Amino acid sequence: MAQTVDERFNQVERYNAFMEVMHARMTNRAFVPDYVVPKEHFEMIMDAARMAPSGADVQPWHYIILTNPEVKARLADRFVQEQNRRAKMGMKFPTPNYRGMATAPGLIVVVADFRMIRAFPVLNDGSELDQLYKLNAERILLQSVAASVMSAHLAAAALGYAVWWVSAIGQEEIQKEFKPLLGVPDDLAILDIFCFGPPLKPSYRRWKKDRHEIMNWDRFNMDNYMSDDQIDDWIKNVRVKVMYRDESKVD
Ligand SMILES: Cc1cc2nc3c(=O)[nH]c(=O)nc-3n(C[C@H](O)[C@H](O)[C@H](O)COP(=O)(O)O)c2cc1C
Repeated sequence: MAQTVDERFNQVERYNAFMEVMHARMTNRAFVPDYVVPKEHFEMIMDAARMAPSGADVQPWHYIILTNPEVKARLADRFVQEQNRRAKMGMKFPTPNYRGMATAPGLIVVVADFRMIRAFPVLNDGSELDQLYKLNAERILLQSVAASVMSAHLAAAALGYAVWWVSAIGQEEIQKEFKPLLGVPDDLAILDIFCFGPPLKPSYRRWKKDRHEIMNWDRFNMDNYMSDDQIDDWIKNVRVKVMYRDESKVD
């Protein structure tokens, strides 16, 4: 018998199964080092990545699965170095330990093709207006890659792995060093690193905003608006707590 409209759009069990995966996705920064991720798992994760939506369906992403332990270790070293540099410059960003990258059983480098912004609505005549459209096009491209990366993370979480989204690549410098090592052409960008594996210590759930804090009906609810001072205060007093603490321990 055909499903009614109410039945079709009320698949709560499927939603619950999906939310189980959403909740299972938790950042962890240290993994069981000697675990080997089966090839099929990489393939399953990549199948999720390629199903993501993207602006104009350009699919501007590439993924490099890194298996060489020496290259992983070099990458981890470089990230540690970058964090030390940031600390010396007084950026005051709470620094995670990037050593865990070296032994992450799954390590996937996310590469983006920014040339694909030409496929979005841009004038391409070098004018000032063109620059504004290009800015928007870059946002479309970044959102597209993030949609794919998130799909990959969720697939890994569904398989039971702990995940780690690393964007601290920072600067051109690191890219220049690693592009040749990974055979990445110059006109592509190394955007992110995706590490995953069985967690060394159990993952913990971090603080998430309540639904009412993000959900606005018809108009922006000013209760959800933060002033610049409140933002500065959040960064100073709250950020470090939410980044590294279980949500039950955030006051
Ligand atoms: C776009 C993006 C960039 C991130 N970059 C880093 C990073 O460079 N280093 C890091 O340790 N964690 C990074 N994270 C992980 C966040 O710190 C983490 O998602 C956040 O603290 C919330 O924790 P949860 O993932 O367990 O919900 C990043 C996450 C996202 C989505």
